[in-house]
Amino acid sequence: MKITAAVLRELNKPLSIEELNLDDPKTNEVLVKIDAFGICHSDYHVVTGLAKQELPVVLGHEGAGTVMQVGKGVTNVEVGQNVLLNWFPYCKECPQCLVGNTNHCKTYMEMLGQGKMLDGTTRLTDSDNKPVLQLSGLACWSTHVVVPDIICTKMPEGTPPEISALIGCAVTTGVGAVLNQASVQEGSSVVVYGAGGVGLSIIMGCVLAGAKKIIAVDRSEAKEVFARSMGATHFITAGKDTIENIKELTDGLGADYAFDAIGNIEIAEMLLPSLRERGLALLVGVPPTDSRIQVDATDVFRQEKRLSGTIYGSADTAVDFEKFAQMYLDGKLPIDKLISKSYKLEEINQACEEMLNGTIARGVVTF
Ligand SMILES: NC(=O)c1ccc[n+]([C@@H]2O[C@H](COP(=O)([O-])OP(=O)(O)OC[C@H]3O[C@@H](n4cnc5c(N)ncnc54)[C@H](O)[C@@H]3O)[C@@H](O)[C@H]2O)c1
Ligand SMILES: [Zn+2]
Ligand SMILES: [Zn+2]
Repeated sequence: MKITAAVLRELNKPLSIEELNLDDPKTNEVLVKIDAFGICHSDYHVVTGLAKQELPVVLGHEGAGTVMQVGKGVTNVEVGQNVLLNWFPYCKECPQCLVGNTNHCKTYMEMLGQGKMLDGTTRLTDSDNKPVLQLSGLACWSTHVVVPDIICTKMPEGTPPEISALIGCAVTTGVGAVLNQASVQEGSSVVVYGAGGVGLSIIMGCVLAGAKKIIAVDRSEAKEVFARSMGATHFITAGKDTIENIKELTDGLGADYAFDAIGNIEIAEMLLPSLRERGLALLVGVPPTDSRIQVDATDVFRQEKRLSGTIYGSADTAVDFEKFAQMYLDGKLPIDKLISKSYKLEEINQACEEMLNGTIARGVVTF
Protein backbone atom coordinates (compact mmCIF):
# COMPACT_ATOMS: atom_id res chain seq x y z
CA MET A 1 0.00 0.00 0.00
CA LYS A 2 0.97 3.64 -0.43
CA ILE A 3 1.71 5.57 2.75
CA THR A 4 3.06 9.01 3.69
CA ALA A 5 6.14 9.28 5.90
CA ALA A 6 8.86 11.70 7.01
CA VAL A 7 12.14 10.47 5.50
CA LEU A 8 15.65 11.41 6.61
CA ARG A 9 17.87 11.29 3.50
CA GLU A 10 20.82 13.42 4.65
CA LEU A 11 22.20 14.26 8.10
CA ASN A 12 21.39 17.72 9.44
CA LYS A 13 18.88 18.36 6.66
CA PRO A 14 15.10 18.78 6.95
CA LEU A 15 13.03 15.59 6.64
CA SER A 16 11.15 15.12 3.39
CA ILE A 17 7.49 14.16 3.39
CA GLU A 18 7.22 11.37 0.83
CA GLU A 19 4.85 8.79 -0.52
CA LEU A 20 6.38 5.35 0.14
CA ASN A 21 5.37 1.75 -0.56
CA LEU A 22 4.65 -0.38 2.49
CA ASP A 23 4.67 -4.18 2.08
CA ASP A 24 2.01 -6.39 3.63
CA PRO A 25 2.84 -7.85 7.05
CA LYS A 26 4.72 -11.16 6.91
CA THR A 27 4.54 -13.96 9.48
CA ASN A 28 4.40 -12.53 13.01
CA GLU A 29 4.09 -8.98 11.71
CA VAL A 30 1.32 -6.41 12.04
CA LEU A 31 0.09 -3.47 9.95
CA VAL A 32 -0.75 -0.51 12.20
CA LYS A 33 -2.37 2.79 11.25
CA ILE A 34 -0.59 5.45 13.31
CA ASP A 35 -2.97 7.58 15.40
CA ALA A 36 -0.38 9.67 17.28
CA PHE A 37 3.34 9.96 17.80
CA GLY A 38 5.59 12.06 19.99
CA ILE A 39 8.78 13.84 18.97
CA CYS A 40 11.56 12.50 21.17
CA HIS A 41 15.07 13.93 21.11
CA SER A 42 16.45 10.42 20.50
CA ASP A 43 14.97 10.66 16.97
CA TYR A 44 16.77 13.94 16.52
CA HIS A 45 20.09 12.37 17.58
CA VAL A 46 19.77 10.40 14.32
CA VAL A 47 19.30 13.63 12.34
CA THR A 48 22.52 15.09 13.76
CA GLY A 49 24.42 11.80 13.43
CA LEU A 50 24.95 11.52 17.18
CA ALA A 51 23.12 8.20 16.98
CA LYS A 52 24.54 6.13 14.14
CA GLN A 53 21.99 4.92 11.60
CA GLU A 54 22.18 4.07 7.90
CA LEU A 55 20.10 6.33 5.63
CA PRO A 56 17.53 6.83 4.19
CA VAL A 57 15.40 6.08 7.21
CA VAL A 58 11.96 6.85 8.56
CA LEU A 59 12.36 8.01 12.16
CA GLY A 60 9.93 7.68 15.06
CA HIS A 61 9.90 5.36 18.06
CA GLU A 62 7.23 6.96 20.31
CA GLY A 63 3.94 6.01 18.70
CA ALA A 64 0.54 4.39 19.00
CA GLY A 65 -2.11 3.31 16.54
CA THR A 66 -4.81 0.90 15.44
CA VAL A 67 -4.20 -2.63 14.15
CA MET A 68 -5.33 -2.87 10.50
CA GLN A 69 -4.08 -6.30 9.43
CA VAL A 70 -2.17 -9.17 11.03
CA GLY A 71 0.26 -11.59 9.39
CA LYS A 72 0.32 -15.36 9.90
CA GLY A 73 0.93 -16.57 13.45
CA VAL A 74 -0.04 -13.33 15.20
CA THR A 75 -1.96 -14.06 18.38
CA ASN A 76 -1.24 -11.16 20.74
CA VAL A 77 -3.34 -8.51 18.93
CA GLU A 78 -6.41 -8.35 16.71
CA VAL A 79 -7.64 -6.07 13.95
CA GLY A 80 -9.22 -2.91 15.40
CA GLN A 81 -7.29 -2.90 18.68
CA ASN A 82 -5.47 0.18 19.97
CA VAL A 83 -1.81 -0.52 20.51
CA LEU A 84 1.29 1.16 21.84
CA LEU A 85 4.43 0.53 19.80
CA ASN A 86 7.31 -0.61 22.00
CA TRP A 87 10.76 0.47 20.74
CA PHE A 88 12.51 -2.19 22.77
CA PRO A 89 10.49 -5.38 23.22
CA TYR A 90 12.10 -8.46 24.70
CA CYS A 91 12.32 -12.14 23.85
CA LYS A 92 12.06 -13.80 27.31
CA GLU A 93 14.70 -16.34 26.20
CA CYS A 94 18.12 -14.70 25.90
CA PRO A 95 20.63 -14.64 28.80
CA GLN A 96 19.62 -11.06 29.73
CA CYS A 97 15.89 -11.79 29.71
CA LEU A 98 16.43 -14.95 31.76
CA VAL A 99 17.95 -12.93 34.61
CA GLY A 100 15.26 -10.26 34.40
CA ASN A 101 17.29 -7.60 32.54
CA THR A 102 14.58 -7.34 29.89
CA ASN A 103 15.60 -3.81 28.89
CA HIS A 104 18.95 -5.29 27.77
CA CYS A 105 17.40 -8.09 25.67
CA LYS A 106 20.10 -9.35 23.32
CA THR A 107 17.68 -10.43 20.58
CA TYR A 108 16.16 -6.99 20.12
CA MET A 109 19.30 -4.97 20.82
CA GLU A 110 20.52 -5.85 17.33
CA MET A 111 17.31 -4.89 15.58
CA LEU A 112 17.34 -1.59 17.40
CA GLY A 113 20.55 -0.43 15.80
CA GLN A 114 19.97 -1.72 12.28
CA GLY A 115 16.74 -0.05 11.33
CA LYS A 116 15.45 -3.33 9.93
CA MET A 117 12.96 -6.04 10.80
CA LEU A 118 14.11 -9.22 12.56
CA ASP A 119 14.76 -10.93 9.20
CA GLY A 120 17.20 -8.16 8.24
CA THR A 121 14.93 -6.50 5.64
CA THR A 122 12.66 -3.45 5.62
CA ARG A 123 9.00 -3.22 4.57
CA LEU A 124 9.47 0.25 3.04
CA THR A 125 10.56 1.29 -0.46
CA ASP A 126 10.53 4.71 -2.12
CA SER A 127 9.21 5.82 -5.50
CA ASP A 128 12.39 4.45 -7.18
CA ASN A 129 11.78 1.12 -5.44
CA LYS A 130 14.87 1.64 -3.25
CA PRO A 131 14.68 0.37 0.34
CA VAL A 132 14.03 2.84 3.14
CA LEU A 133 14.99 1.77 6.68
CA GLN A 134 12.72 1.74 9.75
CA LEU A 135 14.23 3.24 12.90
CA SER A 136 14.17 0.63 15.69
CA GLY A 137 12.24 -1.66 13.32
CA LEU A 138 9.41 0.76 13.87
CA ALA A 139 9.42 4.08 11.92
CA CYS A 140 6.27 5.70 13.26
CA TRP A 141 6.76 9.21 11.80
CA SER A 142 4.39 7.91 9.21
CA THR A 143 0.72 7.26 8.47
CA HIS A 144 1.17 3.46 8.72
CA VAL A 145 3.82 0.93 9.83
CA VAL A 146 4.46 -2.78 9.52
CA VAL A 147 6.16 -4.01 12.70
CA PRO A 148 6.95 -7.27 14.53
CA ASP A 149 3.89 -8.38 16.53
CA ILE A 150 5.88 -8.31 19.75
CA ILE A 151 6.25 -4.53 19.39
CA CYS A 152 2.47 -4.12 19.66
CA THR A 153 1.10 -3.75 23.21
CA LYS A 154 -2.65 -3.71 23.72
CA MET A 155 -3.62 -0.71 25.86
CA PRO A 156 -6.39 -0.43 28.47
CA GLU A 157 -9.73 0.70 27.04
CA GLY A 158 -10.11 4.47 27.00
CA THR A 159 -6.39 5.28 26.76
CA PRO A 160 -6.11 8.13 24.20
CA PRO A 161 -3.56 7.40 21.44
CA GLU A 162 -1.35 10.39 22.28
CA ILE A 163 -1.13 9.15 25.88
CA SER A 164 -0.17 5.64 24.70
CA ALA A 165 2.41 7.18 22.37
CA LEU A 166 4.09 9.09 25.21
CA ILE A 167 4.09 6.00 27.42
CA GLY A 168 5.96 4.43 24.50
CA CYS A 169 9.05 6.49 25.34
CA ALA A 170 9.15 9.70 27.44
CA VAL A 171 6.88 8.55 30.26
CA THR A 172 8.29 5.05 30.67
CA THR A 173 11.83 6.45 30.45
CA GLY A 174 11.29 9.25 32.96
CA VAL A 175 8.87 7.71 35.44
CA GLY A 176 10.71 4.39 35.17
CA ALA A 177 14.05 6.09 35.91
CA VAL A 178 12.58 7.42 39.15
CA LEU A 179 10.67 4.35 40.30
CA ASN A 180 12.63 1.42 38.85
CA GLN A 181 16.23 2.60 38.77
CA ALA A 182 16.60 5.37 41.38
CA SER A 183 13.83 4.24 43.78
CA VAL A 184 13.44 7.88 44.84
CA GLN A 185 12.41 8.00 48.50
CA GLU A 186 9.57 9.99 50.02
CA GLY A 187 10.65 13.38 51.37
CA SER A 188 13.86 13.49 49.33
CA SER A 189 15.34 16.28 47.21
CA VAL A 190 15.91 15.89 43.48
CA VAL A 191 17.52 17.93 40.72
CA VAL A 192 16.46 17.31 37.13
CA TYR A 193 18.60 18.75 34.33
CA GLY A 194 16.53 19.27 31.16
CA ALA A 195 12.79 19.85 31.09
CA GLY A 196 11.81 18.25 27.78
CA GLY A 197 9.44 15.30 27.48
CA VAL A 198 11.83 13.04 29.40
CA GLY A 199 12.84 15.53 32.15
CA LEU A 200 9.20 16.51 32.72
CA SER A 201 8.33 12.82 33.03
CA ILE A 202 11.08 12.45 35.64
CA ILE A 203 9.48 15.34 37.55
CA MET A 204 6.09 13.60 37.27
CA GLY A 205 7.67 10.41 38.64
CA CYS A 206 9.28 12.30 41.52
CA VAL A 207 5.90 13.73 42.55
CA LEU A 208 4.51 10.20 42.53
CA ALA A 209 7.42 9.00 44.68
CA GLY A 210 6.72 11.77 47.21
CA ALA A 211 9.89 13.81 46.69
CA LYS A 212 9.71 17.02 48.73
CA LYS A 213 12.00 19.28 46.75
CA ILE A 214 12.10 18.98 42.94
CA ILE A 215 14.52 21.40 41.31
CA ALA A 216 14.30 21.66 37.51
CA VAL A 217 17.25 23.12 35.58
CA ASP A 218 16.97 24.19 31.93
CA ARG A 219 18.63 26.76 29.70
CA SER A 220 15.25 27.74 28.27
CA GLU A 221 13.28 30.03 30.60
CA ALA A 222 10.11 28.99 28.76
CA LYS A 223 10.42 25.62 30.52
CA GLU A 224 9.70 27.01 33.97
CA VAL A 225 5.93 27.00 33.44
CA PHE A 226 5.97 23.40 32.15
CA ALA A 227 8.28 22.19 34.93
CA ARG A 228 6.17 23.77 37.67
CA SER A 229 2.94 22.45 36.15
CA MET A 230 4.37 18.92 36.38
CA GLY A 231 5.26 19.48 40.04
CA ALA A 232 8.73 21.06 40.19
CA THR A 233 9.05 23.13 43.36
CA HIS A 234 11.97 25.21 42.06
CA PHE A 235 13.35 26.23 38.67
CA ILE A 236 16.88 27.32 37.85
CA THR A 237 17.86 28.84 34.52
CA ALA A 238 21.08 26.97 33.70
CA GLY A 239 24.19 29.11 34.14
CA LYS A 240 27.57 29.25 35.84
CA ASP A 241 25.98 29.39 39.32
CA THR A 242 23.77 26.33 38.90
CA ILE A 243 25.57 24.11 41.44
CA GLU A 244 25.71 26.96 43.96
CA ASN A 245 21.97 27.58 43.45
CA ILE A 246 21.23 23.90 44.03
CA LYS A 247 23.29 23.92 47.23
CA GLU A 248 21.44 27.02 48.47
CA LEU A 249 18.13 25.24 47.91
CA THR A 250 19.27 22.10 49.75
CA ASP A 251 20.64 23.49 53.04
CA GLY A 252 24.14 23.72 51.58
CA LEU A 253 24.28 19.94 51.12
CA GLY A 254 23.23 19.09 47.58
CA ALA A 255 20.32 16.96 46.39
CA ASP A 256 19.66 13.29 47.20
CA TYR A 257 19.19 12.48 43.50
CA ALA A 258 20.34 14.11 40.25
CA PHE A 259 19.09 13.20 36.77
CA ASP A 260 20.49 14.28 33.42
CA ALA A 261 17.68 14.41 30.84
CA ILE A 262 19.69 16.25 28.20
CA GLY A 263 22.53 14.06 26.96
CA ASN A 264 25.29 16.62 27.32
CA ILE A 265 28.71 15.76 28.80
CA GLU A 266 29.16 19.10 30.55
CA ILE A 267 25.82 18.57 32.30
CA ALA A 268 26.62 14.92 33.06
CA GLU A 269 29.75 16.13 34.85
CA MET A 270 27.62 18.44 36.99
CA LEU A 271 25.57 15.57 38.39
CA LEU A 272 27.90 14.39 41.17
CA PRO A 273 28.72 17.96 42.33
CA SER A 274 24.93 18.55 42.58
CA LEU A 275 24.58 15.74 45.12
CA ARG A 276 24.96 15.43 48.85
CA GLU A 277 27.05 12.58 50.32
CA ARG A 278 25.72 9.14 49.31
CA GLY A 279 23.50 10.72 46.62
CA LEU A 280 22.60 8.96 43.39
CA ALA A 281 23.07 10.40 39.89
CA LEU A 282 21.50 8.90 36.76
CA LEU A 283 22.27 9.54 33.12
CA VAL A 284 18.96 9.43 31.27
CA GLY A 285 19.96 11.61 28.31
CA VAL A 286 21.93 9.83 25.59
CA PRO A 287 25.60 10.87 25.77
CA PRO A 288 27.47 11.23 22.45
CA THR A 289 28.90 7.89 21.25
CA ASP A 290 32.43 7.24 22.54
CA SER A 291 32.30 10.22 24.93
CA ARG A 292 33.90 10.13 28.39
CA ILE A 293 32.78 11.63 31.66
CA GLN A 294 35.24 12.91 34.24
CA VAL A 295 34.35 12.48 37.88
CA ASP A 296 36.11 13.75 40.97
CA ALA A 297 37.41 10.65 42.76
CA THR A 298 36.62 12.24 46.14
CA ASP A 299 32.96 12.50 45.14
CA VAL A 300 32.89 8.76 44.51
CA PHE A 301 35.25 7.55 47.23
CA ARG A 302 35.01 9.72 50.32
CA GLN A 303 31.54 11.13 49.66
CA GLU A 304 30.17 7.79 48.45
CA LYS A 305 28.20 9.33 45.58
CA ARG A 306 26.95 6.93 42.91
CA LEU A 307 26.60 7.35 39.14
CA SER A 308 24.66 5.09 36.82
CA GLY A 309 22.36 5.21 33.81
CA THR A 310 18.96 3.96 32.76
CA ILE A 311 17.62 2.69 29.44
CA TYR A 312 13.88 2.80 28.79
CA GLY A 313 13.33 3.58 32.48
CA SER A 314 14.85 0.20 33.41
CA ALA A 315 11.28 -0.94 32.86
CA ASP A 316 9.68 -4.29 32.35
CA THR A 317 7.63 -3.00 29.43
CA ALA A 318 5.20 -5.93 29.59
CA VAL A 319 4.12 -4.65 33.01
CA ASP A 320 4.92 -0.94 33.10
CA PHE A 321 3.12 0.26 29.94
CA GLU A 322 -0.22 -0.97 31.21
CA LYS A 323 0.54 0.19 34.74
CA PHE A 324 1.31 3.76 33.63
CA ALA A 325 -1.76 3.86 31.36
CA GLN A 326 -3.96 2.73 34.25
CA MET A 327 -2.40 5.35 36.52
CA TYR A 328 -3.22 7.99 33.90
CA LEU A 329 -6.82 6.76 33.66
CA ASP A 330 -7.06 6.83 37.48
CA GLY A 331 -5.80 10.44 37.59
CA LYS A 332 -2.49 9.57 39.24
CA LEU A 333 -0.16 10.39 36.36
CA PRO A 334 -1.00 13.63 34.48
CA ILE A 335 0.56 12.55 31.17
CA ASP A 336 -1.73 14.89 29.21
CA LYS A 337 0.04 17.87 30.77
CA LEU A 338 3.23 16.87 28.96
CA ILE A 339 1.67 17.66 25.60
CA SER A 340 1.95 21.37 24.90
CA LYS A 341 1.44 21.35 21.13
CA SER A 342 0.00 19.13 18.38
CA TYR A 343 1.18 19.13 14.80
CA LYS A 344 0.31 17.58 11.43
CA LEU A 345 2.79 15.14 9.86
CA GLU A 346 3.61 17.81 7.25
CA GLU A 347 4.74 20.12 10.09
CA ILE A 348 7.36 17.67 11.39
CA ASN A 349 10.34 19.95 10.68
CA GLN A 350 8.68 22.81 12.57
CA ALA A 351 7.96 20.43 15.46
CA CYS A 352 11.66 19.44 15.62
CA GLU A 353 12.70 23.09 15.46
CA GLU A 354 10.42 24.00 18.37
CA MET A 355 11.76 21.08 20.42
CA LEU A 356 15.31 22.29 19.77
CA ASN A 357 14.65 25.91 20.71
CA GLY A 358 12.99 24.81 23.97
CA THR A 359 9.59 26.43 23.52
CA ILE A 360 7.43 23.30 23.84
CA ALA A 361 7.08 20.55 26.47
CA ARG A 362 6.39 17.43 24.34
CA GLY A 363 5.17 17.93 20.77
CA VAL A 364 2.90 15.28 19.29
CA VAL A 365 1.68 14.61 15.77
CA THR A 366 -1.92 13.44 15.58
CA PHE A 367 -3.90 12.19 12.60
N1 LIG B 1 17.64 6.62 28.46
C1 LIG B 1 16.69 6.39 27.57
O1 LIG B 1 16.21 5.28 27.40
C2 LIG B 1 16.16 7.56 26.79
C3 LIG B 1 14.86 7.50 26.26
C4 LIG B 1 14.36 8.64 25.61
C5 LIG B 1 15.16 9.76 25.46
N2 LIG B 1 16.42 9.75 25.95
C6 LIG B 1 17.29 10.93 25.85
O2 LIG B 1 16.88 11.87 26.83
C7 LIG B 1 17.30 13.19 26.44
C8 LIG B 1 16.14 14.15 26.54
O3 LIG B 1 15.13 13.82 25.60
P1 LIG B 1 13.87 14.79 25.39
O4 LIG B 1 13.06 14.17 24.32
O5 LIG B 1 13.26 15.14 26.67
O6 LIG B 1 14.63 16.09 24.78
P2 LIG B 1 14.13 17.61 24.66
O7 LIG B 1 14.93 18.22 23.58
O8 LIG B 1 12.65 17.65 24.59
O9 LIG B 1 14.55 18.22 26.07
C9 LIG B 1 15.87 18.55 26.41
C10 LIG B 1 15.83 19.80 27.31
O10 LIG B 1 17.15 20.11 27.69
C11 LIG B 1 17.36 21.52 27.61
N3 LIG B 1 18.79 21.73 27.38
C12 LIG B 1 19.51 21.39 26.28
N4 LIG B 1 20.81 21.67 26.46
C13 LIG B 1 20.90 22.21 27.70
C14 LIG B 1 21.99 22.71 28.48
N5 LIG B 1 23.24 22.70 28.01
N6 LIG B 1 21.73 23.15 29.72
C15 LIG B 1 20.47 23.17 30.22
N7 LIG B 1 19.40 22.72 29.54
C16 LIG B 1 19.62 22.24 28.29
C17 LIG B 1 16.47 21.95 26.48
O11 LIG B 1 16.12 23.33 26.59
C18 LIG B 1 15.27 21.02 26.63
O12 LIG B 1 14.28 21.59 27.47
C19 LIG B 1 17.85 13.02 25.00
O13 LIG B 1 19.25 12.86 25.05
C20 LIG B 1 17.21 11.72 24.55
O14 LIG B 1 17.92 11.09 23.52
C21 LIG B 1 16.92 8.68 26.62
ZN1 LIG C 1 12.48 8.33 22.89
ZN1 LIG D 1 15.84 -11.38 25.38
